[in-house]
Amino acid sequence: MTTSKAELYDQLAAQLSSLLAGERDLIANTAHFSSLIFQSLPDLNWAGFYFAKDGELVLGPFQGKPACVRIKLGQGVCGAGAAKCETVIVPNVHEFPGHIACDSASNSEIVVPLLKDSRLIGVLDLDSPQTARFDQEDAAGLETLVRILLSSA
Ligand code: SME
Repeated sequence: MTTSKAELYDQLAAQLSSLLAGERDLIANTAHFSSLIFQSLPDLNWAGFYFAKDGELVLGPFQGKPACVRIKLGQGVCGAGAAKCETVIVPNVHEFPGHIACDSASNSEIVVPLLKDSRLIGVLDLDSPQTARFDQEDAAGLETLVRILLSSA
């Protein structure tokens, strides 16, 4: 029996809640978060966080190949999600103006902002080698996981 995307995100929400239970440290919790989704979601080559610091995004805990450390707000997919404070789905990164290529294997990407009391504290970034890997179900599922993360901090 195959698990639907919605069921997979429901399972991940339960797993994340128990992994983060009782821990408020954002570095520990984002490290655990990136490991959980990198191991559980199919067809990812990068999963991790950038934190908003002094007007730019700075690399945080992640899984995947080494990545660029600093991204200006408005630059690349991460900077676009951070500037708009909205989830951004890019079906083909090669067609996204200003895309920052950290891993040449990446073909699609999703960025979900981390908003605490309407203030941007960072972004979650997922890359896939598969074109059009991410859809609205992923956006909704990842936004739920981000809410769990932020309620732990
Ligand atoms: N591709 C991103 C940069 C970060 S890496 O994908 C890890 C971007 O365009 O913002």
